[in-house]
Amino acid sequence: MSQSKQTRYEESLFQLKAVLEGIDDQIAIMATISCILKTNHPSYYWVGFYRVVGGSLLVGPYQGSLGCLRIEFGRGVCGTCASTKETKIVRDVQSFAGHIVCDPRSKSEIVVPVLDKQGSLIAVLDVDSEDVASFDKTDQICLEKIIARFFG
Ligand code: SME
Repeated sequence: MSQSKQTRYEESLFQLKAVLEGIDDQIAIMATISCILKTNHPSYYWVGFYRVVGGSLLVGPYQGSLGCLRIEFGRGVCGTCASTKETKIVRDVQSFAGHIVCDPRSKSEIVVPVLDKQGSLIAVLDVDSEDVASFDKTDQICLEKIIARFFG
């Protein structure tokens, strides 16, 4: 029987705590989170960060196919998450007006805001799946927990 997604996230957090012990560089943390989540969730084909740079979102560390380079606040799923600072789950990207297509394989996605200790938005974490309706409350709770552990 395949592992539950909850178990995969628990394992990811366990590994991240061990690997990132003593590391406080944001880029290194983002790269390592992308790698471990992608490795432990093979069905999530794109996992990565867009950082707030110069007033918009600029692609950061990620694992997957070529991502769009820059996304304006308010545009697409990532830009919407950045504007609202709230996690956005999109069950079917085709029904999300303004979805930015980086890879036509993307069918559903979740985007989680990354806030620093002062509550300022520094990035968003974007996870994409080739299947419709891949993401739910479990992903939201587990990803928000991982982000809060290493950035909040
Ligand atoms: N689909 C995203 C763009 C980023 S990529 O999928 C990597 C969006 O609409 O924000």
